[in-house]
Amino acid sequence: MEFLICSRIVGRWLAVAVLAISGPRSLRDAADSAGVLVGAAARPYLFSEAAYSAALAHEFNMVQPENAMKWPDLRPTASGFDFRDGDAVVRFAQAHGMKVRGHCLVWHQYNPEWLTQGHFTPPQLSHLLQEHVSTVMKHYAGLVFAWDVVNEALDENGRFKDSLWYNQPGIGMAGKDFAYVERAFRWAHEADPHALLFYNEAEGEGLNRKSDAVYAMVKDFKHRGVPIDGVGLQLHISRLDLDTAAIAGNIARLTALGVQVHITELDVSLPLDPSGGVSSEDLHRQAEVYRGVVRACLQSPGCTAIQTWGFTDKYSWIGSHSHGTRGAALPFDRAYKPKPAYDAMIEELAGHHK
Ligand code: G3I
Repeated sequence: MEFLICSRIVGRWLAVAVLAISGPRSLRDAADSAGVLVGAAARPYLFSEAAYSAALAHEFNMVQPENAMKWPDLRPTASGFDFRDGDAVVRFAQAHGMKVRGHCLVWHQYNPEWLTQGHFTPPQLSHLLQEHVSTVMKHYAGLVFAWDVVNEALDENGRFKDSLWYNQPGIGMAGKDFAYVERAFRWAHEADPHALLFYNEAEGEGLNRKSDAVYAMVKDFKHRGVPIDGVGLQLHISRLDLDTAAIAGNIARLTALGVQVHITELDVSLPLDPSGGVSSEDLHRQAEVYRGVVRACLQSPGCTAIQTWGFTDKYSWIGSHSHGTRGAALPFDRAYKPKPAYDAMIEELAGHHK
């Protein structure tokens, strides 16, 4: 971890010197000066849209498939794997000098019917999960630098959610808390010992029962030598009065355990008027939330990546998820024009010297 911090400090000072003359031309420039990764979740079927590809390549130094490396996309049938869409994200990243983050190997949601309706026994599910983790991570070894190994395993009280993988029927570790998470991380490390392995969570960004449970799990894993390298804080935000001090405190306590933190799914949704518009005041309040999140991350050297969930309001999960009542959550508008949130992110990144 010390080398990471030192190399970032040196790299940042050099980048800052260059930028001090020219000024950041992009989020990517500003992130380079701050020594962090700035990423976006992407949809490979949109790479053929010139404006989408150009903005993604110019503004970000990291990319993550929004869906293309999830179970239904990688394994639509029991008989085989389909890596085409995931490979398209890797090819895009290689063409533009970007890192690739993988998402996600174990999630209670969005699993293919052949799996959820297969009436598999725990031993059969255990074999299927180990086979999935091993096959996918070996396919992307050396190409995907970090993985969300397990996603959203906890409920708001910090208890394990009932799920296919935990206890319905699970992989043989029902009722044993972290055991199935530990098993997934150990399989992931066996498959690709060089990939950074993250636990990714929603609504556990500040200081609450869920983040306390994540902290306890990471502390236990580190104490017992379970291979874990980081925690992903999703930060899907729908309130403009975000307690960024609590987020900074949570990031600090996690990184003090010796793991990295990635902001993994940042978006700040706003109420839409009947014509789908938002107020100028809300756009500026949104910008301050983005600024606060970037600042909370940069306060801890172990917070090494900031990723938004998509990057243009033209393509965001929120519209469909909110039946059109909320949206405008991302740094670029529907015409790929930077919003106040973009300016706030750049200012915070470019102006920050660890
Ligand atoms: O690809 C099919 C298409 O063939 C079909 O015609 C269409 C209509 O049924 O569905 C398409 O699949 C959709 C998929 O996105 C690709 O667009 C699924 O229905 C839809 O459920 C899926 O939603 C994604 C969701 O995760 C579930 O995987 C969202 O785009 C994605 O933004 C969202 O992302 C999650 C993170 O992975 C974890 N954290 C929360 C975050 C938001 O829910």
